[in-house]
Amino acid sequence: MPLRSFRIVELGVGSAQKIVELSGKPRHAKDEFLGVDLQQANVPGTTNSVEFLGLPKPTMEKVWPQPNLKVTRGKDAVSFLAEQPSSSVDHIYAHFLAEHIPLHKRKSLFAHAMKVMRPGARLVMVEQANWNAQLRDEISKTGFVVHSKPLNPADLRRLGTNHARTRLASYEQHLQTRRTADPSTLDSEMKLVIRGSGESLREILEEVEGKKRGTEARAAIDRVVQGAHLSYENNPWVAIYARKPRVEALQSALSST
Ligand SMILES: C[S@@+](CC[C@H](N)C(=O)[O-])C[C@H]1O[C@@H](n2cnc3c(N)ncnc32)[C@H](O)[C@@H]1O
Repeated sequence: MPLRSFRIVELGVGSAQKIVELSGKPRHAKDEFLGVDLQQANVPGTTNSVEFLGLPKPTMEKVWPQPNLKVTRGKDAVSFLAEQPSSSVDHIYAHFLAEHIPLHKRKSLFAHAMKVMRPGARLVMVEQANWNAQLRDEISKTGFVVHSKPLNPADLRRLGTNHARTRLASYEQHLQTRRTADPSTLDSEMKLVIRGSGESLREILEEVEGKKRGTEARAAIDRVVQGAHLSYENNPWVAIYARKPRVEALQSALSST
């Protein structure tokens, strides 16, 4: 058993399978698992004690069997991180969260993550592959040491979140369409599919950014949309690993930016 217990956080848990799964396999008896999601739960067995009490703050928590797990709903990931003590978190996960958060807020999220993570702790994000370059830049500007790994369908199946399953299903549908398509028209059809997917991604990202988006946010959107074709290739997803350096390395990284 490890010498000390860990605090593990998942941001944007959705229906919370991952954090529930992780909390079922603690490495230390006192490991603590914390999840947060902006949305209220639609999960059977959920209680909304605060609402029942007539209190204004809509925080909803499912009562999980594991005493080491707490999932807070109705709360923004940035506010959640802002409430955590400095250097108190050993691991942060965020799966398919980036496209829901505007650039200025992502910056704030990474800055708060840096503050609450212990030196040496790791943030792991899983996203569509077209987020790789943009997110890596954003995260490394905060002082993290970042690397990434392309993910294929088998990797995504292992991740096993609800959204991973949805993405996998549409990718498999795409492969099936390709298999049955007329080879002579396949390339032109794929061009149309990729263009359509880029356009709808742009609409989503522009809505998330809002009307007052600045130059930097527009450039971020362009960069992510330009990679729309990656969703149709062999590794449509990416895992981004960001490590908070030990103190001396962090100071020198920040002073050179
Ligand atoms: C695409 S879903 C992914 C859910 C889950 N991680 C998965 O892989 O199945 C994105 C989740 O992020 C949540 N979300 C969006 N913006 C958020 C924010 N600012 N803070 C916390 N959660 C957020 C949404 O409510 C949604 O549950």
